[in-house]
Amino acid sequence: MSKIIGPPTLTDETANMLSEFFAGEARQGVHFWSPFRIYHFSDNTSFQFCQPVLARERKDGKPGLRYEFIGAEMGSGAYGEVYHVDATLVLNDTGAVFKKTDKHGQRRVIKKEELQHDRSLSSIHNEFNMGKLAGLGSKSPVVIDERDAYMVMRNIRGEELFDLLCQASLPARKRLALTKAVLRAVKEQLRNNHILHLDISPENIIIDQTRIPIKATLIDFGFSRPEHELSERCCGKEGYTSPEMVEGGPVNANSDMYSLGLVIALIWRLDGLVLYMDNERSTIEEQAAYARTIVLDSMFTGLDDVDEESKALIKNAVSWAIRGNNEERIGIDDLIAIFDRLNLQPVAASSSQPGGSGLIWGSFFSSAQNRAVSPEKSGRSCVML
Ligand SMILES: Nc1ncnc2c1ncn2[C@@H]1O[C@H](COP(=O)(O)OP(=O)(O)O)[C@@H](O)[C@H]1O
Ligand SMILES: [Mg+2]
Repeated sequence: MSKIIGPPTLTDETANMLSEFFAGEARQGVHFWSPFRIYHFSDNTSFQFCQPVLARERKDGKPGLRYEFIGAEMGSGAYGEVYHVDATLVLNDTGAVFKKTDKHGQRRVIKKEELQHDRSLSSIHNEFNMGKLAGLGSKSPVVIDERDAYMVMRNIRGEELFDLLCQASLPARKRLALTKAVLRAVKEQLRNNHILHLDISPENIIIDQTRIPIKATLIDFGFSRPEHELSERCCGKEGYTSPEMVEGGPVNANSDMYSLGLVIALIWRLDGLVLYMDNERSTIEEQAAYARTIVLDSMFTGLDDVDEESKALIKNAVSWAIRGNNEERIGIDDLIAIFDRLNLQPVAASSSQPGGSGLIWGSFFSSAQNRAVSPEKSGRSCVML
């Protein structure tokens, strides 16, 4: 029977044999090994890996390779799937160590994307560069069989804003904290680094509620680009794309402000946001016209713990973020200033629970998922509490 190799440990003898095996594989350009296939050491004894293994280069051109033992899937999107990295194998002269975390104590994930006509290797490299700049700790992508690109990055702790918003009973103070956290993320990850994200959506924002204040992190830099780069490459997730994104550019930082505005509207329970591309709005012109005329009247659906003055301020701020005319949109600093000044007032108790009316909100999410371009979401639905 062949030996099974995987975390948590390796004997010194196996580590030596494995080092030799990997060196031979590297010479032949092999960087990926499938689970439960039979491989052979130089003495012809056989072994198997208990999970997929990927070899990647170390950062900043340091010599040697690292071996990622890929675990369970944790999420998927339009182009790729993201998996946990169970452990990274470090092989060097002194032996072999499986490391579960990086030097900052953070675990890693790996994103697998299939190269396609609209997802070229250069766009994957772009995702790597932008993600790295924005603090995701992305490692240089590895392409296997000229088809699958694998990119290792930090596991951002927390949950998708999308999932969090499915919980109807979030109090207004939590919604304000979420809004501020998302604004900070846009400022710190994007504006400070001169990056356009171009795919801001509740699925691409991870919220860590264990941090004080709550921390939001933007992920998925698949459509991102440097601010100065002029390109009209298609971008964005249907439902959050600004009119100019729908029309194919040109785009700028204000295009992100539009998507951000809609995300904030959702945090404050805009109900019934309809995705552009349904049967009634099949042309680009119709979709762009819809994006120019989103109506915010249904914000605060079911929220009875937000005072009227705050509602007016929030709605006004969102309306300036989602202006149809790109040049008229509010900038991130002004938006941050508005929410920093916002002073939620106590509201007289009413008979219903804060954040009630879950059914209406639930209908948004379920209809959004049914019609969404993101089929990866189709298996998930919001259970209203
Ligand atoms: N670095 C990360 N840390 C934690 N979760 C992640 C990370 N990257 C992606 N995910 C999870 O995987 C999902 C899909 O990844 P994403 O990069 O958005 O792929 P896609 O480009 O296909 O939308 C995300 O919505 C999120 O839940
Ligand atoms: Mg995504």
